Amino acid sequence: MSNLAVIGTQWGDEGKGKVVDLLTDGADLVVRFHGGNNAGHTLVVGDSTYALHLVPSGILHPDKVSLIATGVVVDPGVLIGEIKDLMARGIEISPKNLKISGKAHVILPYHKRLDEARESRAGAGKIGTTGRGIGPAYEDKASRVGLRLSDLLDLALFESKVKKALQEKNCLFEKLYGQKPLEAADIMAEARDWAAFLSPFITDTFAIIQKAVKENKNILFEGAQGVQLDIDHGTYPYVTSSNPTAGSVSIGSGLAPNKIDKVVGLVKAYTSRVGEGPFPTELLDETGTKIRDIGREFGTTTGRPRRCGWLDAVVVRTAVDLCGIDSLAITKLDVLRHHDEIKMATAYRLDGQELSHVPGILSDFSRVEPVYETFKGFSQDLCSAKSLDDLPPEAKVFLKRLSETVGARIGLVSVGPERGQTIILDKFFK
Ligand code: GDP
Ligand code: IMO
Ligand code: MG
Repeated sequence: MSNLAVIGTQWGDEGKGKVVDLLTDGADLVVRFHGGNNAGHTLVVGDSTYALHLVPSGILHPDKVSLIATGVVVDPGVLIGEIKDLMARGIEISPKNLKISGKAHVILPYHKRLDEARESRAGAGKIGTTGRGIGPAYEDKASRVGLRLSDLLDLALFESKVKKALQEKNCLFEKLYGQKPLEAADIMAEARDWAAFLSPFITDTFAIIQKAVKENKNILFEGAQGVQLDIDHGTYPYVTSSNPTAGSVSIGSGLAPNKIDKVVGLVKAYTSRVGEGPFPTELLDETGTKIRDIGREFGTTTGRPRRCGWLDAVVVRTAVDLCGIDSLAITKLDVLRHHDEIKMATAYRLDGQELSHVPGILSDFSRVEPVYETFKGFSQDLCSAKSLDDLPPEAKVFLKRLSETVGARIGLVSVGPERGQTIILDKFFK
């Protein structure tokens, strides 16, 4: 038995979907444990591309069980749409291979509306959220006024909770944002469809995880977002509202911390960020544009162009230490070709001092200067590389330095979006 967590080390979009799909081969269960449909995980299999937002990235393997665990916030309409789309494309989905925690909180129409209203009112001070209602849904959870998926199993109760919530939310919409109030009846019309479709999938995912542990099964935990978007440890307030760090596996799924055997840190060979907030290695010149174009750095969820820059090993080192990362999965190395020189920030400079980790104060982080190491570029197309020996020496030097400077070994190198375009160095499941 071994349990393995896949964690984004940067600001999300590191290629977690691809790697989780690949590692599902060795897993019995694949578990989403936090976040919601702010995530966009892309899987490329042959000619088919799948963009998943809530359904775990193990779903293409019909013999494996996918869980949406307690710590996730679920927009039921989005989830149903995603399940139906996948089924229409021939993917087998039933309550046998997809199970959703009754304790997971529901994203309701007023959460989405509130997210959008706040962002547009904030103007230049916005966070740049995905507008999916993630923050307001987690707020209600923390305030203990949220609705959980199990509430859908009793629609009378669900309705009474929606009515109560609307007393407060409508006050905000009408008085603060000058909008029309939402009607409980409209929400309930949708809720009846959600209940009819989702009820068979709603279950106790904690019990399933515990049973899997007793039966020595392998569990793969699929992180969403990335460490610098963590609400506690990231670049607050330019973060999401959940914890993408490894500690969140336990809280969001109910697996005890000492049962996590290995943490794999996903590292894109450069850095990208969507939304606002400091980004020390950002490239606002044609090099950044070149990386964005070759790497097709446009959001899976919102289609927004992603901000791009050189690899920031300070960010990765911070993630390695925060999450206990054993093994790094490097993705999109192929994208770095066609540069005479490639850079990696290995430290920051701030007020004459050198920093090895991301500083905790945002105003400090906004002022740091990256200390770059410069590497020779390469022009070889890497997409058919099958082993480290197939990589140009310049790329190997870059990987070796990254591993050394952040203190974790390289377990996997991805050189293209497809499953086969991967060099696997570690044995991930025992
Ligand atoms: P996630 O949110 O971490 O799952 O990442 P996204 O799916 O949002 O973004 C990663 C993008 O890069 C997707 O379009 C993937 O298909 C693609 N991708 C993943 N690995 C590689 C790789 O090694 N090379 C290239 N060129 N594309 C990759
Ligand atoms: P995956 O799982 C990249 C970013 C948003 C915004 C901030 C807050 O695909 O890596 P939110 O809607 O969560 O309140 O937005 O977080 N963000 C992501 N950026 N990848 C993601 O997920 C993200 N999920 C949220 O762009 O800056
Ligand atoms: Mg993504």
